[in-house]
Amino acid sequence: MSQASDFDKIIDRSHQNSDKWGKYSGDVIPMWVADMDFDSPQCIKDALTQRVEEGVFGYTYASKSLVNSIQGHCQARYDWMPSAAHFVHLPGLVCALHLAVRALSEAQDRIIVPSPVYYHLTKAPEMSDRKLDRIPFVLKGNRWSVDLKSFEYSCKKADAKMILLCNPHNPGATVYSKEELLAIHDIAQRYDLLVISDEIHCDLILTSAQHIPFASLNDDASQRTITLMAPSKTFNIAGLGYAFAVIANTKLRQRFNQAREALIPAPNLLALVAAEAAYRDGQAWHESLLDYLRGNLCFIKERIANTKIRMAEHQATYLAWLDVREYHLENPHDFFVKAGVGISDGEGFGAAGFIRLNFGCSRTQLEQAMNRILIALESMS
Ligand SMILES: Cc1ncc(COP(=O)(O)O)c(C=O)c1O
Repeated sequence: MSQASDFDKIIDRSHQNSDKWGKYSGDVIPMWVADMDFDSPQCIKDALTQRVEEGVFGYTYASKSLVNSIQGHCQARYDWMPSAAHFVHLPGLVCALHLAVRALSEAQDRIIVPSPVYYHLTKAPEMSDRKLDRIPFVLKGNRWSVDLKSFEYSCKKADAKMILLCNPHNPGATVYSKEELLAIHDIAQRYDLLVISDEIHCDLILTSAQHIPFASLNDDASQRTITLMAPSKTFNIAGLGYAFAVIANTKLRQRFNQAREALIPAPNLLALVAAEAAYRDGQAWHESLLDYLRGNLCFIKERIANTKIRMAEHQATYLAWLDVREYHLENPHDFFVKAGVGISDGEGFGAAGFIRLNFGCSRTQLEQAMNRILIALESMS
């Protein structure tokens, strides 16, 4: 069987205590949380099997070879070589977002977040008594991006302390261009703001756009940025729990680590093994995945072409951001669940009237889901 066709395989996850598949009862296809219905690459399964067979599962530190494999990946894909000394290994990325806000800002500081956005970027300030300015994403041509005027307006407030970026942006599927990143950096530098850059979706670019790590822009950017990345979305290993931060600024890294040590456990040893195998040996699988996802994206575009569903340019992620406002649905989530598809409601990210559809699944499943969505919408008119 060719690698690409492995993605067509239908995998029964009903017995796996999967968050995605456990959410709905009855005949609802779950297309919500960012977790793909694909098997993991063989290199990950082999590495895990070997480590499990060795036995002895004591406290384990992140190896040099793991860091080397990440550096190799970042160098090859982003022309960026983070220094080994700047890594912080984490059991997940969400805890790092919350930790960064708590460790590196004070109560009542203002945090700037382009939005609609993955809800932990707004929850992190909200749950820690910070002020939150959501900066609207607007359509520029046919692509969502941040409104830089509103962005600067918020950043120059006296209590502004930190920017939380999501790049590629989820939801909205935008990959920030170099020009946009430089403009954001210019503002961050002018008003002396820290930048927490969640780049978890950076390996999932589906167009010719190039991902640029914010910290790689220039020396100043690298000194004011905490970069957060993970193999979990790309290689579908979110359940193992591994992410990493790159923090070049020694003082920031020390403050982050001080806050981390008492509260956040080290990553699970199997997660470390999986991450190393993924970054070192997963390239062929990764490229096949991207091809398959591009096919799924094309399929969605074709299916919605003659409907009132709108989708802007989709540059990255397997999460389609669909504007269904023209249908005037009272409750889009319940409407589509009733139709048999469990989507994420845009309201949860800060954009009512939108839905986010996870297309990290077999074409057959996607086809079934799209049929249900379109039949339900047609039956309204
Ligand atoms: C932008 C973004 N950040 C973080 C996460 C979750 O990270 P983790 O599972 O490592 O906590 C997600 C998951 O969907 C995400 O989309």
